Amino acid sequence: MSDSLRQRILITGGSSYLGRYLVPLAAQSHEVCYTFYQNDPLNLPSGRCLDVREETAVFHLITQFRPHVIIHTAGSNRSDDLDGVICQGAQNVARAVEQVGARLIHLSTDSIFDGLQPPYDETAVPSPVNAYGRAKAAAETIVATYENHVIVRISLIYGLRQMDHGTSWMARALQAGQPVTLFNNQYRNPVWVDTLSRACLELAANDYTGILNVAGRQVLSRAGFSLKMLDWWGITERGTLIIGPSTGGNWPLDCRLDVRRGTAVLTTPLLGVDAVLSFHRNG
Ligand SMILES: NC(=O)c1ccc[n+]([C@@H]2O[C@H](COP(=O)([O-])OP(=O)(O)OC[C@H]3O[C@@H](n4cnc5c(N)ncnc54)[C@H](OP(=O)(O)O)[C@@H]3O)[C@@H](O)[C@H]2O)c1
Repeated sequence: MSDSLRQRILITGGSSYLGRYLVPLAAQSHEVCYTFYQNDPLNLPSGRCLDVREETAVFHLITQFRPHVIIHTAGSNRSDDLDGVICQGAQNVARAVEQVGARLIHLSTDSIFDGLQPPYDETAVPSPVNAYGRAKAAAETIVATYENHVIVRISLIYGLRQMDHGTSWMARALQAGQPVTLFNNQYRNPVWVDTLSRACLELAANDYTGILNVAGRQVLSRAGFSLKMLDWWGITERGTLIIGPSTGGNWPLDCRLDVRRGTAVLTTPLLGVDAVLSFHRNG
């Protein structure tokens, strides 16, 4: 990449599953600063400890580094302070971004939907059914008040070099002989962490604004996806595995995302799970 395309990029949540892939990729072509909160698995000199709930700390970091782009990944469903980390965090980041005039790429989720009216395109209005979905929907509203933003709505993230959160949980439970139920009526478009990272960097450099669905083009049930991941990781203990329907409850059933706009806007192909797996198996 030429120096004129080299940007200063701040990545919050560099310690997240996504961040651990995105930060090294971004650092190949850009000047990167990343943040972590409690863990720094990357352990690079460009890492900074940051609590996104602390407005002054967020402001100082952003006004000192003066990024051209912020990729805000921090704040997932794994936090015990969803409102603080996701909503207050988004507010603090958006306010500071406004001061430096940077571009804001904000990671959102298909869990902002109730799963009753799929597929969801970029015009779909959030209809969350759980606290995580409500917090991420509120964060979208905050980010959308800032002009130069992209809200990236994604589905389950997986990778083939490091086990994703869901598969790790399943593997631990199965190996411990605990029951694991895989739902065959919950649908998602899992997105490969490589695809998502490349898409975020493309969006950092282009002029698209607004909401964009970035997900794999293959729709799978949670059960179908989980079995493919267990196969990939060679997890053979399946004695306590149950496959059956979810009755809904706190997790939406069918959150398939319409990826036609993403396919048109991005040059990064939105590969489905089978395409990613077959590419790796064959080569
Ligand atoms: N994983 C998925 O399947 C999925 C699906 C849909 C959407 N998403 C979205 O994609 C993004 C990345 O998800 P992920 O699963 O990769 O995340 P993750 O692995 O669960 O990591 C969460 C990140 O948030 C950071 N964090 C937590 N509390 C913080 C605080 N108070 N201040 C600053 N940072 C804090 C964590 O830092 P420490 O680890 O250092 O504490 C970590 O970097 C999130 O926005 C998530 O909502 C993920």
